[in-house]
Amino acid sequence: MQNFSIMQKKSAQITEVGKQMDSPKVEAIVFDAYGTLFDLESFARDAEKVHRGKGKEIARIVRQKQLEFAMTRTILGKYADFETLTRNAIEFALKETGIKRTDPVVENLFSKFQSLKPFKDVVGALNDLDELDLRVAVLSNGTQSMLDKLIEHAGLSLLSEEVISVEGAKAYKPSHKAYQQGQSELEIFEKEKVLYVSGNTWDVAGAKSFGFLAGWINRTKQPLFDEGFYEFRPNYEFSSLGEIAKLFE
Ligand code: LAC
Repeated sequence: MQNFSIMQKKSAQITEVGKQMDSPKVEAIVFDAYGTLFDLESFARDAEKVHRGKGKEIARIVRQKQLEFAMTRTILGKYADFETLTRNAIEFALKETGIKRTDPVVENLFSKFQSLKPFKDVVGALNDLDELDLRVAVLSNGTQSMLDKLIEHAGLSLLSEEVISVEGAKAYKPSHKAYQQGQSELEIFEKEKVLYVSGNTWDVAGAKSFGFLAGWINRTKQPLFDEGFYEFRPNYEFSSLGEIAKLFE
């Protein structure tokens, strides 16, 4: 295995993985949604209020199964929308945690998934990027309707202009088709003019391998980017979203 160095860009307190670079010349900052802007632990807390002692486990299984269904269907070329996959994942989680499946129980958890809380650093980071006049967008596996509801519920009006779902591509990230959908809708000709930011390492790897500049939001302070994705390591590593704007000051 090759080694790679992690260098600190001290002035901006940004860890840059690989090599040192000047401010990137980007046309847009594009965010992943679930686990990047929106905190899946808030789903665990909300699920816990209705299913005592099981909230965390329900949230863990829902996320795991959602991704497994999405990736498997993409590899098979059998797309089903993210709303369907989320309901399937909730049903699986209910079975695993021994909760009787009824329509109201499924719909109640689904509505909680639609009202995830944004991470604490999101509002400040969006305001900073807006002040710098940077174009900001979302590219997510969620359906357009799920994303619009999520953003509206969280009151993130700065995001509402450019919300892109992979629905049009009928393929989920990390398939290149999904990032391609984002690039086409953004109408940005050069891939490296997009800084794509995600908290999910498989998604960072997907965006990097597609050709976007990639930023990893590592809030939990993981010591290293996933070794299995070494060749698709990010250009930037941020410990909070607030650090992104500092790149452009
Ligand atoms: C998203 C999930 C998969 O695309 O993180 O928002």
